[in-house]
Amino acid sequence: MQGVLFDLDGILTDTAKFHFAAWSRLAQEKLGVTLPAEFESRLKGVSRVDSLVRIMDYAQVTDQYTPEQIEQMANEKNGYYVQAIEKLTQADILPGIPALLAELAARKIPCVIASASKNAPLILKNLGLTSEFAAIVDPAKVAHGKPAPDIFSAAAQAIGASPAECVGVEDAVAGITAINAAGAVAVGVGDPQELAAAEIIVPTTADLTYAVLEQAYQARAK
Ligand code: G6P
Ligand code: MG
Repeated sequence: MQGVLFDLDGILTDTAKFHFAAWSRLAQEKLGVTLPAEFESRLKGVSRVDSLVRIMDYAQVTDQYTPEQIEQMANEKNGYYVQAIEKLTQADILPGIPALLAELAARKIPCVIASASKNAPLILKNLGLTSEFAAIVDPAKVAHGKPAPDIFSAAAQAIGASPAECVGVEDAVAGITAINAAGAVAVGVGDPQELAAAEIIVPTTADLTYAVLEQAYQARAK
């Protein structure tokens, strides 16, 4: 294993609740609808604009807004979201992550962020994790979001590795699909049925260890 390609939201820290709160506020204020709770997981791994498209679809208002208005609403949601993530600290890092990053650093295995979030640099900074990563792929610079392979291909490239030499870690179905499409080895965190396409699935981030990632990598090589 020459590198580890990390999703951020739901892997390094739990931001889904902040995304959901920000979208709920926007949906209420601008579209007059209350988002059902299942939207929290339905928007995992989905880009900002695609999330808004799904919400507008739910509110049945898709044809009523201009592209400029849609962009304005996405910006407004991001304002609410940034207010929440500005308060993140080291205490918000998910269990097991600091130990995993230390194990990978001790083995000189580079780590890269492959997140759809344009807020990844700010989140990493507030978690105090920026220096643990060799690179952060800019999602604005890849042609297609997850489930397309682009962001994981770019992440491997950022460390001079081929995707086949890397393990990708994800909590979203679209992310597992993207890792597989890139030709990297997928490790899923969450529900084994939902993430069945991953090489190995663990229940929580506390179960992520170097040994698990290496096991997934070796299993795929067979
Ligand atoms: C991640 C999250 C999504 C979010 C996307 C874009 O994939 O799981 O819920 O919509 O990033 O995040 P951003 O911070 O750029 O709005
Ligand atoms: Mg995620």
